[in-house]
Amino acid sequence: MPGYEVIGNEELAEVQDVFAHGGVLFRHGFDGLRNNCFKVRQFEQEFANQMGAKYALAVTSGTAALRVALAALDIGVGDEVITQSFTFVATVEGIIESRATPVCAEIDTTLNLDPDDLHRRITSRTKAVIVVHMLGTPARLPEIAEICRQHKLVLIEDTAWGCGGNLQGTPLGTWGDIGTYSFDFAKTMTTGEGGMIVFRDEAIWKKAVAWHDHGHENNPAVPRWEDTRASSGFNYRMMELQGAVGLAQLRKLPGIVTAQRNNHDRLWQTIADLPGIELRAAPEGSYETADALVILVADNLVALRCRQQLLETGLATKILPEAYTWHFAGTWNHMPELVAAHGGNLQTAFPQSQAILSRAVSIPVGVTMADDVPVRVRHALEKALQP
Ligand SMILES: Cc1ncc(COP(=O)(O)O)c(C=O)c1O
Repeated sequence: MPGYEVIGNEELAEVQDVFAHGGVLFRHGFDGLRNNCFKVRQFEQEFANQMGAKYALAVTSGTAALRVALAALDIGVGDEVITQSFTFVATVEGIIESRATPVCAEIDTTLNLDPDDLHRRITSRTKAVIVVHMLGTPARLPEIAEICRQHKLVLIEDTAWGCGGNLQGTPLGTWGDIGTYSFDFAKTMTTGEGGMIVFRDEAIWKKAVAWHDHGHENNPAVPRWEDTRASSGFNYRMMELQGAVGLAQLRKLPGIVTAQRNNHDRLWQTIADLPGIELRAAPEGSYETADALVILVADNLVALRCRQQLLETGLATKILPEAYTWHFAGTWNHMPELVAAHGGNLQTAFPQSQAILSRAVSIPVGVTMADDVPVRVRHALEKALQP
């Protein structure tokens, strides 16, 4: 879970630094006032360095990151973008906002995109794939990246849940052509609201930089009010206070992930021998962010009993099962574009995903975990798993 647990003096000091340097809250210009203080720019540079990415662009949210990425790729009407059936609505919203056709594919027991089903859903109109590392566990990136390469599809990683994780040593978000991140208040590192995009390709990064800022090219030859433009765009600019908080949180990210991974392991070691549970699958070489510990139980009734018992013990679940409808495309009848893309019936579109998700229980893991939590989780699950 989250960066908010460790917000403190370091974030405050970075914010105060903005005011100590003149209080310019806009990421561009005002050079005479700001004494060379550029927090968003610095945040982008440090984020790119930490992720081993070539280029980074800070934006206002993880949803905006997806929208800007698709715009920079010129994806729009008539194009299909495939993502996974288990994600937050934002991933599909980003595709709908770009006026492309959203297509969802089944998940496998990693709870992420199933490479076999991805392969089946590719058509001549498919332009990009958005893979999501849900709840901090990497998707099967080697297989997915290979499919994208074979079919010449752009691979975007929605890394909203995967910031700070890696697969086989390569940071999540940098396996694909583009990685998007969310820094909303529930995420592993937070700026309250905010997001980041990392890119391999300089030309696409430049297009994104312009598009997220009304088309501004930041032409050094002219002042901003005379700036040149090659496309229209929108305003998804991050502001300086978010950049300041982001800098402090970024420095804490490795520690956050290490603490969560330790707590995840403590929890799993305490419950692993319970009959009737299995840990969600993770690809070989996964370094998970461990935002949650996800187990699969016998069926939906048992999953619901697990939640009930955890609540009665004063604990909770995280997303599964209680927020299933916000995260499973099979229930998104409010999205006509998605319904139409799946033949008018979402309910029967993802049987494999439904079978997995209906028996999944996700237990939140934080940076801090009281000593008695693993044993309390065990007792709750023992009661729920009784025949
Ligand atoms: C998978 C996924 N993608 C994108 C987003 C959107 O991020 P934001 O809340 O920063 O817009 C979220 C938010 O929870 C998410 O879970």
